[in-house]
Amino acid sequence: MPVYTPDPLLVITAIAFCSFPLYSAAYKNVRQPHSSMSTHTLSTRLGLSLPSPLTPFRPDWQGANTVSMWIKRDDLIHPVVSGNKWRKLSEQLQRYMQHQSSTQRHIISFGGGFSNHLHALGWCCWQLDIRFTAIVRGNYHATPTPMLKDLAQWRANIQYVTKAEYSRRHDQDYLNALQNKAPDALIIPEGGSQASALTGVRQLLTEIQQPFDTIIAPVASGATMAGIISGLTANQSALGIAVLNGVGYLENLVAQFLPDFSKRHQQNETLPAQQWQILHQFHHGGYAKRTPALIALCEESLQAHQLAVEPVYSGKVFYAVKQLLGEGYFAPGENIVILHTGGLQGNRSDPASDE
Ligand SMILES: Cc1ncc(COP(=O)(O)O)c(C=O)c1O
Repeated sequence: MPVYTPDPLLVITAIAFCSFPLYSAAYKNVRQPHSSMSTHTLSTRLGLSLPSPLTPFRPDWQGANTVSMWIKRDDLIHPVVSGNKWRKLSEQLQRYMQHQSSTQRHIISFGGGFSNHLHALGWCCWQLDIRFTAIVRGNYHATPTPMLKDLAQWRANIQYVTKAEYSRRHDQDYLNALQNKAPDALIIPEGGSQASALTGVRQLLTEIQQPFDTIIAPVASGATMAGIISGLTANQSALGIAVLNGVGYLENLVAQFLPDFSKRHQQNETLPAQQWQILHQFHHGGYAKRTPALIALCEESLQAHQLAVEPVYSGKVFYAVKQLLGEGYFAPGENIVILHTGGLQGNRSDPASDE
């Protein structure tokens, strides 16, 4: 008789995610009271833990004893609004709350069936009493993912669109038509990736008191990396780990968020020595693709370091760090910060099917 063996990584992630101390029914389904909004900042009202901790990281990996490492635990900001989500959305949300009257508030955004961005934004809207429309790529009506079930509980209006329609999400005519149908709505691009995201991302650097040389982060849409680059001091550098197959494409995405960089590039001015670089050998076959070695690293991370990482973003970063240390990539004595961008919810079922 065939025996069902669950994917060990899914089991580990589910345990890690569901046992996260704050991820309780209270966070999922209960709105916080509104009375104190005027005196508390938005982050206080959302119950976020800021600044996020910076914790030393001393694995017994080959080469690890030649450098000093810390993890910037943005995954601990909040069980739902975790990782880079608050960083990318904070500026937009704060501005919108200030300028749009409470009865007119409506946000529209885009994502796949496992989207960390839609999950975080949906929860913020639910907490802040903002109408939320999620435009989702593909039709999950019959088999909603855990992420979509959460959105439904948080009273989001979920609109499933075909891949062809979804591909128009950046097209100005499509966006104008959407805006005409909902004139008061704020339309936030997929992943919350837009120029305003950089301000919030830069904030994480100001929280790091420990002097460091290099900060390492995953790269998908490029906004997180661009925000980091825009906040570096002259003697610091950023190392991006591509989570998808995109040599050149990802560099352009990052650069387009950096206006000075693009302007100087167009004018053929001499650019300053590159303070950032993206490594492309750690995507394990593409977006949301995973290999046994990557899964083993994620399991090791939880068991040996009590650190939950998932294979779509943070797992690929820690895998890369382990490999690079073994190859002697970093200078002896280098101070390295690894940014944990969260995203554990996306692994509650197999995101590889989100294609
Ligand atoms: C958990 C997590 N980490 C990293 C990233 C990559 O960030 P970016 O798209 O800004 O490159 C994402 C996507 O937004 C994400 O959900």
